[in-house]
Amino acid sequence: MTDTIALNDGNSIPQLGLGVWQVDAAETAQVVGWAIEAGYRSIDTAEGYRNEEGVGEAIRSASVPRSELHITSKLRNGAHKRDRALREFDATMQKLGLEQLDLFLIHWPMPKRDDYVEAWKTLIELRDAGRIRSIGVSNFNQDHLERIIGETGVTPVVNQIELHPRFQQRDKREFHASHGIAIESWSPLGSGRLLDDPTLGAIAVRHGKSIAQTIIRWHLQQELIVIPKSANRDRIAANFDVFDFELDAEDLGEIAAMDSRDGRTGSDPARADFEF
Ligand code: A2P
Repeated sequence: MTDTIALNDGNSIPQLGLGVWQVDAAETAQVVGWAIEAGYRSIDTAEGYRNEEGVGEAIRSASVPRSELHITSKLRNGAHKRDRALREFDATMQKLGLEQLDLFLIHWPMPKRDDYVEAWKTLIELRDAGRIRSIGVSNFNQDHLERIIGETGVTPVVNQIELHPRFQQRDKREFHASHGIAIESWSPLGSGRLLDDPTLGAIAVRHGKSIAQTIIRWHLQQELIVIPKSANRDRIAANFDVFDFELDAEDLGEIAAMDSRDGRTGSDPARADFEF
């Protein structure tokens, strides 16, 4: 059973969920079904992942009621203008087959296009109309966050950013904490690239756990929301088996020392400008 993180709007989200970026559309329903069987209650998808239908199918055939599941999706890039955002949101809800979405995020700020404030106002409108319970952002830097908060008075509940032991984003933590914005880690396993790291390997051996479990445990102890991706039934279950051990101060010190300014695996939000 996973803990939940309280959000600044009074709602909450399970701390550990399944991310379905790069899960094949044809496999998504089965993969999400395995996750729900393994105990996951939070699923993170996006319009850009092109697998929302599979998530919807898994929700409908799940053995747990809809009300026990927490579903996140994200507004695609290039859809920040109000009319387009409303249309895209309707398409998302159609694909997911839901009446109300738990969390909807602006996927990337796309600062060159300079429409993210309009997108944020549209998410506020959808939330106020009762179609979304909580609204947040992804890949927002501090200047983007300050701007949407300043122009609307509404603070996102989460900011989902790339974060893992090799790119820990420690300089971001204080600003988020002071505004009550929860950080959600994407590519928490470094997109799989940390899974042969010798430092993590030694820590994992000390605890009798795998490297993936060790990294997921690190996110949990950092009070981050974490959404590892796997499309494999055994690895999905193993990634949820992280509640029977605790990293100690020595482990945490060794992982803290892995942080690198160059550790990013994905795009830089200040420059990113792509269709997704
Ligand atoms: P797979 O889907 O075949 O399991 P991230 O969440 O950081 O993006 O990392 C996802 C990558 O890590 C995927 O390539 C996934 O592959 C792999 N992965 C996820 N969980 C595990 C695990 N427990 N052991 C090994 N690889 C894993």
